[in-house]
Amino acid sequence: MPFEPDSLPHEVELPNRKFGKLPNRTLLSASNRIKCILSIDYGTTYTGISYVFSNESELNDIATVQTWPGDGRDRDFEWKTPTVIAYGSENNFQGVKWGFMVEPGMKSYSWTKLLLDKNAPKGKYDDPTLTNIVRKGMMELPKGKSAQQVCEDYLREVRNFVFARLDKENGADFMKLTPMECWITVPATWLDEAQDATREAAKGAGFASRSMDSINVIPEPEAAAICALKKLTAPGAPDSLKAGEDIMICDCGGGTVDLTTYSVTATYPLLDFEELVVGEGGKCGATYIDRNLHTLMTTRFGESFKKLDPKKTGPGSKFMQSFERVKRDFPKGFDKEKGIGPLKLVSKNPAHYDDDDGTVKLSLADMQSLFDPVISQVIALVKAQVQEASKLNHDIDRIVLVGGFGDSPYLFEKLGAWCKTNGGIKLICPPAPQAAIARGAALRGLAGTAPSLKKQRRHYGYEVGRTFDEGVDDATKAYIDPFLDQEDQRRIQEMVWKIAKGENVTTKTVRSQSLYFTHKEGSSSFTQTVELYSCNLDTAPLSVEHERVVQVGEIKVDYSEVDLNTLESTYKDGKKCYKMEFDVRIEFGAVKGILVFSSWIGKRQVGTASLSFAK
Ligand SMILES: Nc1ncnc2c1ncn2[C@@H]1O[C@H](COP(=O)(O)OP(=O)(O)OP(=O)(O)O)[C@@H](O)[C@H]1O
Ligand SMILES: [Mg+2]
Repeated sequence: MPFEPDSLPHEVELPNRKFGKLPNRTLLSASNRIKCILSIDYGTTYTGISYVFSNESELNDIATVQTWPGDGRDRDFEWKTPTVIAYGSENNFQGVKWGFMVEPGMKSYSWTKLLLDKNAPKGKYDDPTLTNIVRKGMMELPKGKSAQQVCEDYLREVRNFVFARLDKENGADFMKLTPMECWITVPATWLDEAQDATREAAKGAGFASRSMDSINVIPEPEAAAICALKKLTAPGAPDSLKAGEDIMICDCGGGTVDLTTYSVTATYPLLDFEELVVGEGGKCGATYIDRNLHTLMTTRFGESFKKLDPKKTGPGSKFMQSFERVKRDFPKGFDKEKGIGPLKLVSKNPAHYDDDDGTVKLSLADMQSLFDPVISQVIALVKAQVQEASKLNHDIDRIVLVGGFGDSPYLFEKLGAWCKTNGGIKLICPPAPQAAIARGAALRGLAGTAPSLKKQRRHYGYEVGRTFDEGVDDATKAYIDPFLDQEDQRRIQEMVWKIAKGENVTTKTVRSQSLYFTHKEGSSSFTQTVELYSCNLDTAPLSVEHERVVQVGEIKVDYSEVDLNTLESTYKDGKKCYKMEFDVRIEFGAVKGILVFSSWIGKRQVGTASLSFAK
C-alpha cells in the first residue's frame, strides 16, 4: 500500500471511517496515516476536482466530483463546473454565487485565468485577438480585485463545497485528522509567475491550509498524459499501448491548447515514459471560437450588438449558452442554418437575424469560419511537434485528444483528416476527455506516476560578472572586482543560463554554482540577492535587458552570521573588502512542481527562493 510518511510527530487515534476500503483497524501510527489526495483543475471555462485516498491504487478508484451545485446544469452530472463567480454586492443577493449557481443576467466574472498569465510575451500560437478581450468588455475584473484574488474567491467556494462533501462521505472527525495532498494543474506554457499566482490563490482559498497538508503544481498536459497513458496500458485495454510507441497528448481546453509528446519505454507492470521533444502550446482554446462569434456579430450588426449589456452577450448569457449547445455538437445535426438566441437586436440585417424569434442565424459556412482559424492553430501546433519528433527519427504513432474542446466532433474530423495524410497517425479521444486532467493529477499524487524524463521548456539562469572585453563591451556598464587577479579588474554582467531549453530533466536535476560578491567594510547590509531569469526563445540572449528575458524570482543570501574575519580580503580605495563566497542551487525537477532554489555558505543554507513577481 503506498503509504507515505507525514510530518505529524505523534500518534493519533482515528475514528472508524464509514465508507471506502479502509483496512479494519482504528489506530494508525502517524508515519503511515492515510491521506487524501485531491486535485484541482482550475480551467479558463470549467473547473474540475478529483480525489482519492492513499490506501487505494487504481485510476478507477479516483472519484471525480460530478454533482455540482446550481440550477444552471444541463444534465444531472457534469465533469466540471463553470469557472464563473458573481458577487452579491454587485447583484441582488447575499454572499457569493459560483459555477452553475450563476444565472444569465447576473453580473459575473469568467475567463479570469486568461488574465493570470497576462505578462507572458505573446507566443507563436496565441490567438492574435487575445489582447483585445479586456478592452472589448468580454473580460473584466471587479473594482479593486486582481485576477489572483478573483481566482482565490472562486476556489474558496469550490473548496468549501468539496470539503463539505468529503466530510459527509467520510466523517468530519476523520477528515480533520487526514492530511491533504493537493495538486493544482497549470498550463505548461505559463510563466512561473502565473503558476505561482495559481498556487497562491489555491492556498489562500484554504486548500492545504493546515501544517500537515501540502500543495503541488503539475502541468496540465502532463496530468492529462498520466491519465491517458495509464488507461491505454491497463491490462485488457483495447488496442493497448506498446513499449516503443510515440504518443502525443493534445489537451484542448477553453483557453489553452497544450501538447506533449512521449516515448513509452515500458508499459506493464510499471508504466515508464519519457518526454520526447519540448512540449508546445498556445492560447488558442475553444473560447476563441466564442470570441470569433463576437467579432462576426460586430461585423454584421455593428453598434446594435456592441452596445448591448455584456450580461446579454458575455460568457454565461442565454445567448452564449445557446451558442455553446450548437458549438458542442457541430457539425452533427447541422444542416444549412441554426438560430441562436434569444437576443434583442435593432436589426437592419434580416439575412442574418430572425426578427420573429429574436434569434441570430448562423449558416454552415459561418460556423466553419468561427472554428477554422482556431483549428488551424491546433493543427499548426500538432504539425510542429510531429516535425520536432521526426528530427529525432521518431514517428508519432498516435494522438490522444483530451480537454473539453478535445471532444469536438469538428476538431476530430479536421485533425483526423490531417493525421490520415500525414503518416496515418491514429487519432483517439477517450471517454470523458474533460475529466482527464484532474484525474491524471490525482493519479500523480496517488501512484507517483510521472514521466521519468522531461524536456526543459525554457532556459533559466542569472547574471554573473565576466572579465571586461576592451573594444567590445560598453565601459559605462563595467564595474571593478577587487578580487579579480589581473591588472584590468573591470567586469561586465552577462547572463549565464544554467539549464537550456530542451535539456533533459529528471527529479534529480540540480544545478549549482559557486559565486561570490564583495562586502565592503562598514556596510550595514548583510544580505544580497541573486535574481533568477527565464527565457523561452530557442537560443537565449546574453543580455538581461532582452525583451524575452523574464524575471522569475530572487534568491536571498543572508550572511549576517558569517564571521568576516574568516574570509579572504583585500583593499580597494583604502577600504577593506571581503570576498563573500556562496553556492547557488536550483532544483529543476522537484516533486512539488515548482522551482526550488537556495543559497548555501559551506553546508549551511543561508537563503531560499523568495518569489517576487511584479504583480
Ligand atoms: N464538444 C465540444 N466542442 C467544442 N468545444 C467544446 C466541446 N465541449 C466543450 N467545449 C469547449 O471546451 C471548453 C471547456 O473545456 P475544458 O474544461 O477542457 O477547458 P478549461 O479547462 O476550462 O480551459 P483551459 O484548460 O484552457 O484553461 C469550453 O470552452 C467549451 O466551450
Ligand atoms: Mg483545462
